[in-house]
Amino acid sequence: MSVSLVILAAGLGSRMNSELPKVLHRIAGAPLLAHAMRAGATLEPERVVVVTGHEAAKVAQAARMENPDALIAHQAEQLGTAHAVAQARAALEGYSGDVVILYGDTPFIRPETLEAMLEARARHAIVILGFDAADPGRYGRLVMAGDRLDRIVEYNDANDQERAITLCNSGVICTSAEQLFELIDAVDNKNAKGEYYLTDIVAIARDRGLSAGVVTCSEAETLGINTRAELAAAEATFQARTRAEALENGVTLTAPETVFFALDTIIGRDAIIGPNVVFGPGVTVESGAEIRAFCDLEGCHVSRGAVVGPFARLRPGTELAEDVRVGNFVEVKNAILDAGAKVNHLTYIGDAHVGEHANIGAGTVTCNYDGVMKHRTEIGAHAFIGSDTMLVAPVRVGANAVTGTGSVITEDIPDGALGIARARQETKPGLGLRLMERLRAIKARKG
Ligand code: UD1
Ligand code: MG
Repeated sequence: MSVSLVILAAGLGSRMNSELPKVLHRIAGAPLLAHAMRAGATLEPERVVVVTGHEAAKVAQAARMENPDALIAHQAEQLGTAHAVAQARAALEGYSGDVVILYGDTPFIRPETLEAMLEARARHAIVILGFDAADPGRYGRLVMAGDRLDRIVEYNDANDQERAITLCNSGVICTSAEQLFELIDAVDNKNAKGEYYLTDIVAIARDRGLSAGVVTCSEAETLGINTRAELAAAEATFQARTRAEALENGVTLTAPETVFFALDTIIGRDAIIGPNVVFGPGVTVESGAEIRAFCDLEGCHVSRGAVVGPFARLRPGTELAEDVRVGNFVEVKNAILDAGAKVNHLTYIGDAHVGEHANIGAGTVTCNYDGVMKHRTEIGAHAFIGSDTMLVAPVRVGANAVTGTGSVITEDIPDGALGIARARQETKPGLGLRLMERLRAIKARKG
């Protein structure tokens, strides 16, 4: 049976107290929406429909960033969850498989849970994801009749007896596309909130002789984000879980609680990650590489045997080949460093290619930006860049070439040549001593 996703992301999330729509707030470097989409993506959905409303253009952009094939449905007014799902009808035209409905603000649903829901569809027309709430608060309550779900009652419409139920609705629902839209057509808004409740489809289905069932998960899994405090707590939950997974997968974390991962960070077995390392989006670290303390990495690849840091920053487009060394206070951006290259101290390498076993001296800067455009620097294999060299791009330093310390290199240096570009030193005998005496005399006169 094929599956499609409908992800509800039209709400503003007023309790976030933000200009940004709620689903674009980030956990682990990725919008909440991307987390929900990624969880659903493991079902290999045929179609993915994201229902947008508040800041629709921005939300649609984030959806397409995560999945370029995502279909966007627009809900101009937020009249309730059933109304939101109804907006996906056109995008699901001609589709006849199952539909899983997710919320864009619920980032932690596990793929295994969604699989279990699809399996339960063999027994029920509608499958609801429920959870046993420690504090059921304002969640919709699942009213069971034996092992079947009889109906869902929203908190505002529930009586005391129903409010005492702790089995709650997560919002995740699975049914067939055909049934979904037939049932939604029958939903009205005669309730406490005057909204079209998606949850009403359960009782409507029952009246039509269709059964609904419940699959349960932990409360942590269905955690929805409504406030900044919940966002921070969710970040902590994500990080704790990801650190535990990394340790489990054979990654050494010296101080796990100080390492921060992105949603898509990939770290190989036997990599060593020191304290206070932050992984932004798009980082892969191969087996056996070492990231030492206080590094910040984003959009980069670190190969086997490479050692990075302490105190290094790898920005997007950085590729470190095997056994590369990037040391303290080094920034690398959009640059490929071939095997065995060394950039050990106080250096900026941007828009560059560094050949294998090249050695970049302390204080080297690739001057890649002229204020308008970016230019490339090419450094050949086994080149030796003297300390404090300014490489004014576009410029090429050949293989086995050398630059003199303190040079400002503006012209290409052929293979094996020495490029030196600095004022020649003058030495004046005795002048140092005389200069100091004169300065001390001036100071004494001033009192
Ligand atoms: C909903 C459920 C409730 C469940 C709870 C779980 C209904 C009627 N109630 O209640 O049973 O326990 O979620 O968190 O479904 N949305 C739209 N368009 C709308 C309305 C909502 O896109 O017109 C989106 C929201 O952005 C949000 C999600 O749907 O992502 C849920 O909406 P929300 O208003 O939070 O529903 P609850 O009242 O929490
Ligand atoms: Mg809610």
